[in-house]
Amino acid sequence: MCGIIGYIGKDEASPVLIGGLRRMEYRGYDSAGVAVIAGGKTTVIKRPGKIVELVEAVDAKTPKGHVGIGHTRWATHGAPNEVNAHPHQAGPITIVHNGIIENYQVLKKALQKQGRVFVSETDSEVLAHLVDLARATSDDLAGAVVKALLQVEGTFGLLVVDEREPETLVAARRGSPLLLGITDDAIYAASDATAIVAHTDRVIYLEDDEIAVCRPDTYRVIDFQEQDMLHEEQRIEMQVEAIEKGGHDHFLLKEIMEQPKTITDILRGRLDANDGTSHLGGLNLGKLFYQRLSRFLTVGCGTAYYAGLLGKYQLERMTALPVDVEYGSEFRYREPVVAKDTLGLIISQSGETADTLASLRELKRRSIRSLGLVNVVGSSVAREVDGGVYLHAGPEISVASTKAFTAQVIAQLLVGLQVARSRTMSVIEGREVVEALEALPDQVQQILDRRDEIKDLAKKLAHYDDAMYLGRDALYPVALEGSHKLKEVSYIHAEAYPAGEMKHGANALIDDKLLVVFLIPKNGLYDKAKSNLEEVAARNGQLVVVATEGDKDVAKYTKDVIYIPESSTWTQPILVNIPLQLLAYYIAVKRGTDVDQPRNLAKSVTVE
Ligand code: AGP
Repeated sequence: MCGIIGYIGKDEASPVLIGGLRRMEYRGYDSAGVAVIAGGKTTVIKRPGKIVELVEAVDAKTPKGHVGIGHTRWATHGAPNEVNAHPHQAGPITIVHNGIIENYQVLKKALQKQGRVFVSETDSEVLAHLVDLARATSDDLAGAVVKALLQVEGTFGLLVVDEREPETLVAARRGSPLLLGITDDAIYAASDATAIVAHTDRVIYLEDDEIAVCRPDTYRVIDFQEQDMLHEEQRIEMQVEAIEKGGHDHFLLKEIMEQPKTITDILRGRLDANDGTSHLGGLNLGKLFYQRLSRFLTVGCGTAYYAGLLGKYQLERMTALPVDVEYGSEFRYREPVVAKDTLGLIISQSGETADTLASLRELKRRSIRSLGLVNVVGSSVAREVDGGVYLHAGPEISVASTKAFTAQVIAQLLVGLQVARSRTMSVIEGREVVEALEALPDQVQQILDRRDEIKDLAKKLAHYDDAMYLGRDALYPVALEGSHKLKEVSYIHAEAYPAGEMKHGANALIDDKLLVVFLIPKNGLYDKAKSNLEEVAARNGQLVVVATEGDKDVAKYTKDVIYIPESSTWTQPILVNIPLQLLAYYIAVKRGTDVDQPRNLAKSVTVE
């Protein structure tokens, strides 16, 4: 979703801003712009479409100032065109904004009555006018921003500059992520650490309702009463190489290929083979809590939701506790009944998804303890949960989530193992889970090593317009995730069913134009799944099957079999998902879609 970057320091601002915007391209956007102040004048350059268009325009104008702000916009209010692109201006004031101003229509009418003229259809433009108006009665820009924001309802990650005060950059946050990057002679402000990691690893994360007043070599954080807020600087551990493609054509392939390492990293130091359990330093729960615990409630969106649904099958088996799984966008508004002694599991790669974050806050309001299974260190979910497990998957740049899904499933297994072992699971059963997890990196690598077979298959399948993914039990959520991935990156219509449900309606869809991806590795439900497979084959469905190495039987139904190594049922769903990721990737490449930044999608959905 929108990305913002600001710079104030000794260097030229525009290359820093463009570099930061490029790093945030992965978040998804449809227009971009920068504003730079030089010689008391602000130059604003913005373009619809990709950043490369903006770069040409910036190169042509070469604004030379040392303070500036930039933005990638993902349209919410108003079409993705040049006028609606940020920055927005009112007189000498220029702003960039992430979030939504909920009362903008009321504010806009009142401002228009005072003679203010609006040029865009955006909600954000009111912020420029409010600050400009407040500036007339304030001592400085920071005071004007405070006065303006006191009138605003909604969310903002906001950067403001004033051409009369070029030694100041003001940043404000409510509900949209914002951090400051610090060096001895410059301050950076950004919605995303990737935008500044090439310049500094020293950061502070702003909290809601905080305002940062940045000057070239210093900063001050205040609240809405203009009281100083204390922040300790933190170090981000991200390396620049981690946010580059490293020789791959796309981030998506890089991230799929990284998964053996992802798994090793999330497991590092957390498995106890002797006691058949996991050690998780950040849960902050205690033994008594485990004994009282009555159920889990998992919340996530998109792929994180599917990871949660898969976790339900696993956690219920491990712990014998019920698990409810909710979409964040549904849970937050539907007045749910949440039992006492429930443990919330908040799953999010970014830790900034608005609906997931709001659901966490709803759980907190009800005094329900929650753990975060989050990838981005220091993100809003990570900071607001009672405890959690970092996924340690490294930056995930491709909009389509792959390695984070794998890590989210493993994180649930780790939590489940600890809970189960403190309740009824025997040490022997616990050791089986540990062994299965330890074997996983090599097994995933074996599948990745055969990716050319999947690439060839993808070429044959790329012309289909409709696809159906089928699996039973824990493989049903994998079918959902597989179909989600295909539709995201290839724009093919895809859906998923529990294989046993097909005969209740969806069998009517099967003909030779429907691609059916059937998940049937060897497990307790293999024979049942085989009957469902026969039902599809008998109706001429175009079958691709994911099966266990050595299973010759399934080859009777189709030539297109993708084999995965034999494995424990605890980790089998993770392995089955890997070829589905590769299949979606190679089909998308064949169809020529924008693989890393699919149309209409954003990496981190920070609006509801
Ligand atoms: C995944 O491929 C999607 N891009 C999307 O469904 C994503 O999983 C969802 O928006 C949740 O994001 P989060 O994990 O950052 O909360």
